[in-house]
Amino acid sequence: MSISPDSVLAALGTVEEPDLKKDLVTLNMIRDLEIEGSRIAFTVVLTTPACPLKDLIRTRCETAIHRDVDAEAEVVVNMEADVTMPGSNAATEGGSSGVKNFIAVASGKGGVGKSTVAANLAVALAKSGAAVGLVDTDIYGPSVPVMFGIDTSVKPRVNEDRKIIPLEAYGVKLLSMGFLVDETNAVVWRGPMVSSAVRQFLGDAEWGELDYLILDLPPGTGDIQLTIVQTVPLTGAVIVSTPQDVALADARKGVAMFRKVNVPVLGIVENMAYFTPPDLPDRKYYLFGEGGARRFAEEAEAPFLGEVPIEQALRESGDFGTPIVERDPQSFSARALVQIAQNTAQQVSIRNAEAPPTQQVEILHR
Ligand SMILES: Nc1ncnc2c1ncn2[C@@H]1O[C@H](COP(=O)(O)OP(=O)(O)OP(=O)(O)O)[C@@H](O)[C@H]1O
Ligand SMILES: [Mg+2]
Repeated sequence: MSISPDSVLAALGTVEEPDLKKDLVTLNMIRDLEIEGSRIAFTVVLTTPACPLKDLIRTRCETAIHRDVDAEAEVVVNMEADVTMPGSNAATEGGSSGVKNFIAVASGKGGVGKSTVAANLAVALAKSGAAVGLVDTDIYGPSVPVMFGIDTSVKPRVNEDRKIIPLEAYGVKLLSMGFLVDETNAVVWRGPMVSSAVRQFLGDAEWGELDYLILDLPPGTGDIQLTIVQTVPLTGAVIVSTPQDVALADARKGVAMFRKVNVPVLGIVENMAYFTPPDLPDRKYYLFGEGGARRFAEEAEAPFLGEVPIEQALRESGDFGTPIVERDPQSFSARALVQIAQNTAQQVSIRNAEAPPTQQVEILHR
């Protein structure tokens, strides 16, 4: 007896997308179904190429078909991705900007690893197959150029429409305020000036089509951060903290700032979580206390995205100018950062399926 497409779709209709809590057929995620004898091939269109549940979804599809259609069928599951954007089921589909998701990486406290996380998040998402950009919004201490080995004395070019052409490294399109601002002049900048520069960066740059544009924010929760946050319709924010109480207190202020302007917190990253000496690989020393950021995530009712250990190779890769997920993908910190990138992409998909687009708050200049 030949296998009917309806029977396959009925089987796939029992497979739930674990995050979106609906079945793959209802979510319109099944494409290109082809049946030849006992060979059943189809494509699952995921909401992100960095989906951490790929293997789980594949196995569930195979199981459902073997159970409901034909125990002997050869099942070929192809995976593709079409990244969603806020409100993509609603009116904003195909919005004016080519950027689907703006994601801010922030903290309250300085030096906790925002730029390190932002850089590796960007490269990890790009390596998964997404189109990714990264903007360093820190005019006082831009670090993205260093982390990507870019010489800031070489200014980005402008195209015939007078749009800034982002640079590109490790598959990520990059712009840094460091390209625009002479560091010695930066101290006189005020919130509205930063805001208009960020707006120019985001609006007047030739980003093309991007799935994710990561914004590396300067430390703090003051005027400048608030203005940047209000300049773009953020899909959400990733908060980085070390497990220390002082850092967590500042991270709490960060969460409060985003919530005040209705930007969803995609989750918390614990950086410098512990140290494992290379010669004692089974030991974990919790130099800044154990699990503080994980507990904070629970308290703030925000997802916990993962923990990054203190690793010399991570610091070195930043100084060397190649993010660690590219330079040493097998290191502990690189594997943690890839997992964090997948978890972040997952939270973006969940947020886009559930929540309406973030309203851009009107900015009042004083
Ligand atoms: N897990 C880690 N292990 C080792 N070194 C790290 C780790 N995370 C960050 N660093 C190092 O700590 C320093 C500060 O990190 P980074 O610049 O990412 O912090 P930041 O929060 O962006 O700082 P700022 O507030 O100044 O913007 C860098 O030299 C970086 O390489
Ligand atoms: Mg930084």
